Amino acid sequence: MGYRALLFDLDGVIVSTEKNHFHAWKKTANHLGISFSEKDNEALKGVNRVDSLKHILALGKRIVPDEEFEALLHFKNEEYLSSIEDLCIKDLLPGVFDLLNLAKNKGFNIGLGSSSKNAPMILERLEIAAYFDVVIDGNGVTRPKPDPEVFLNGAKRLGLSPSECLVFEDAQSGIQAAKAGGFFAIGVGNPWLLGLADDYYNSLTEFSLERYA
Ligand code: BG6
Ligand code: MG
Repeated sequence: MGYRALLFDLDGVIVSTEKNHFHAWKKTANHLGISFSEKDNEALKGVNRVDSLKHILALGKRIVPDEEFEALLHFKNEEYLSSIEDLCIKDLLPGVFDLLNLAKNKGFNIGLGSSSKNAPMILERLEIAAYFDVVIDGNGVTRPKPDPEVFLNGAKRLGLSPSECLVFEDAQSGIQAAKAGGFFAIGVGNPWLLGLADDYYNSLTEFSLERYA
């Protein structure tokens, strides 16, 4: 197989912050009088902050002035941040810590490809920032997932081609981004990805790096 790098999504793959994003968006939507279910949220996984709010407003057939739009983005992020105040290394999803260590020991490059602007802060809080050779997050991307830019930038910064990198994703938009970029896309922890991803695991504890080395 000959892969040389692992590119990880953050929310839902490394840490279960997807539920925190959902609750913060639900509160924002309800504040606007828009109902927002966990099923609605599926379409927002991997989608950046601005596009997520546009999606929710479209759900409620609402248009808001620019100023209110900015205020809603701020409100959602404050809700989200206060819900992850206690985030720490214990919140790493099962299998993540072992996989990072194994990959490092075996000489794999490790990268992050996340839509979140909060990603660098979260890696610090989880005490895993030092494992990453490259971090591409929502602050450095012009075309969000499902565009492959975030992963293409990661591979480029590592000096590798997409065909040498495995991408780990929990979101449809992320799997689409990885596949559009020519990466091998591994779906994790989200049964909706069965059939979409190149390979699928319920949890990273089931993943065997030897199979891809
Ligand atoms: C993605 C999440 O990783 O980041 C989305 O899957 C989230 O749910 C998006 O909306 C943007 O995150 P942030 O932290 O920049 O608001
Ligand atoms: Mg995700």
